[in-house]
Amino acid sequence: MKFSIFPVDFWKVKVPSHTTIKDKYLDSFIEGYANNIYQIPSGWGTQKCHTSFQEIRLIEEDILDEYVGIFNSLLRECYTQEQFDCWYQVYKDSEYQEWHEHSPSTLSAIHFLKFDEEHKAPVFRDPNNKSNTYTPEVEEGDIIIFPSYVQHCVPEAQYRNHRATIALNLNLTK
Ligand SMILES: [Fe+2]
Repeated sequence: MKFSIFPVDFWKVKVPSHTTIKDKYLDSFIEGYANNIYQIPSGWGTQKCHTSFQEIRLIEEDILDEYVGIFNSLLRECYTQEQFDCWYQVYKDSEYQEWHEHSPSTLSAIHFLKFDEEHKAPVFRDPNNKSNTYTPEVEEGDIIIFPSYVQHCVPEAQYRNHRATIALNLNLTK
């Protein structure tokens, strides 16, 4: 007999207010990319990325309200905005992110804010067998949620149009 005792949970749902969030924030994210306003976070392995992770956390109420609502409805919990860290990234010209994980956070999420057919999805790695990977089928407006310990990467690629995502961590130690 063989069975899995600790399967990896993975959620994919639509962000109800996706269009509102995109219309309100995407232009400023792309402007930040054009002006190269962020440093690569210290300790990250990538040589090319554009992320607000180290310098600016998103604290806008409307964004956080939306994501906290999604987490709470999916998990039937009562998390609060203060338990989340939220940031964004833009990819267009060979940006990428190496294999990494978000521990010691509990759950992490990626909202695909600007995501076209040309754009590559992140790739996830089986914690029990690193040669086993999973590439979710995602489209713009989706949010995926996964345990923070699961390693993932964003492949390097050159795109005609920007690929923009908002990421967040749920920190239950806060
Ligand atoms: Fe990540």
